[in-house]
Amino acid sequence: MANIFPRWSNLLPIKIAVCALSVVAGLVFAFSYYATPKTLTVGYQPSQPIPFSHKIHVDQVGLDCRYCHSFVDVAGHSNVPTGSTCWNCHQHVQKESPKLAPLHKSMDPAYPGYDGKPIEWVRVHKAPDFVYFNHSAHVNRGISCQNCHGNVNTMEVVTQDQNMSMGWCLTCHRNPELNLRPLEEVYNFKYNAVDYLSKNPQSGVKTPEELGLKLKEQFKVKPKTTCATCHH
Ligand code: HEC
Ligand code: HEC
Ligand code: HEC
Ligand code: HEC
Ligand code: HEC
Repeated sequence: MANIFPRWSNLLPIKIAVCALSVVAGLVFAFSYYATPKTLTVGYQPSQPIPFSHKIHVDQVGLDCRYCHSFVDVAGHSNVPTGSTCWNCHQHVQKESPKLAPLHKSMDPAYPGYDGKPIEWVRVHKAPDFVYFNHSAHVNRGISCQNCHGNVNTMEVVTQDQNMSMGWCLTCHRNPELNLRPLEEVYNFKYNAVDYLSKNPQSGVKTPEELGLKLKEQFKVKPKTTCATCHH
């Protein structure tokens, strides 16, 4: 029987395989390159439109995180406040500060350059799009902002404190008891388990390790480590 295909076609499956392989390799490279945002690095500290200081507002003025990040305990996503939250105070306080010019531009119709546009804060922490994260699931189970974001209360400029890699998430999911706090201490950046135990002898436990295990049982915490937990 005559060969109806030309000779070179014998190589076709191999050519296809080679092409397919290089496409896959290219995709894997592109995925790992572009899916890993530059923002996910310890120490990342972009400059912001207003030099907003957590140190002034939390440690000096004494504001709770939830005054501004008001969705953090009720939603998966933690919001950054809108200009009106700042304006509550700054229509009265530090009115002449040049640092607040962008706030006046956004909120103050009497300001010459007023445009009413929202302030564009630059995002510091950003998980890749293929990762599912949920704030309220953590802070309502005794995990503090401090565990993941560091000592924000003393930061002049917010900096990424933890690497937020998959291994970092899993390390805590496997042993959450090392990080659990009583719920009323989640927003307390001066929390110290040893001091807490000496002030609360009725808790019935003696060491931070015992406290962690007790809270784990009390909150019925059992963080999952299956892939679908964080990759929907
Ligand atoms: C007076 C309002 C206010 C209070 C109170 C406040 N924040 Fe913020 N926070 C902001 C604003 C505005 C930004 C965005 C600008 C910046 O990154 O500095 C921000 C940014 C952040 C970020 C970085 C967000 C990102 O882009 O990844 C974290 C984390 C954060 N705050 C945590 C906290 C914690 C923890 C507390 C409590 C200790 C707190 N904040 C209290 C206003 C506030
Ligand atoms: C509860 C009141 C309150 C809120 C809400 C508030 N601030 Fe302030 N802010 C203050 C006070 C009080 C000071 C002055 C502290 C001092 O003088 O030591 C201040 C200081 C500042 C300064 C320093 C000004 C300078 O010239 O040194 C900036 C900038 C600032 N705030 C920005 C913001 C922004 C942006 C927001 C909203 C995300 C905000 N503040 C929300 C009370 C507030
Ligand atoms: C278990 C770790 C963990 C805890 C606890 C935690 N965060 Fe976060 N936070 C993250 C991660 C991860 C991101 C990035 C999420 C993303 O990109 O979807 C983030 C992002 C943020 C952002 C930026 C959101 C945006 O869209 O700009 C803010 C603001 C923030 N966190 C505030 C807080 C505050 C306030 C608390 C405590 C009340 C807190 N976080 C507790 C891990 C945590
Ligand atoms: C410091 C400890 C800690 C870290 C770090 C941590 N988690 Fe968790 N995570 C927990 C605990 C505790 C729970 C609650 C488990 C429960 O309720 O049984 C939880 C629950 C979850 C849930 C389930 C939420 C739901 O809707 O049921 C998801 C998703 C999750 N974590 C994702 C992440 C991701 C993604 C990261 C890393 C970016 C991360 N976690 C880092 C402790 C942590
Ligand atoms: C507790 C949350 C969590 C669980 C569970 C989890 N991952 Fe991830 N995974 C992440 C986070 C966060 C990242 C992003 C890390 C980064 O950007 O540095 C990630 C990244 C990845 C990546 C991208 C490659 C990389 O390293 O950036 C792959 C592939 C992946 N995960 C697969 C899996 C598989 C397979 C499982 C189940 C065996 C799994 N993950 C379970 C949180 C999780």
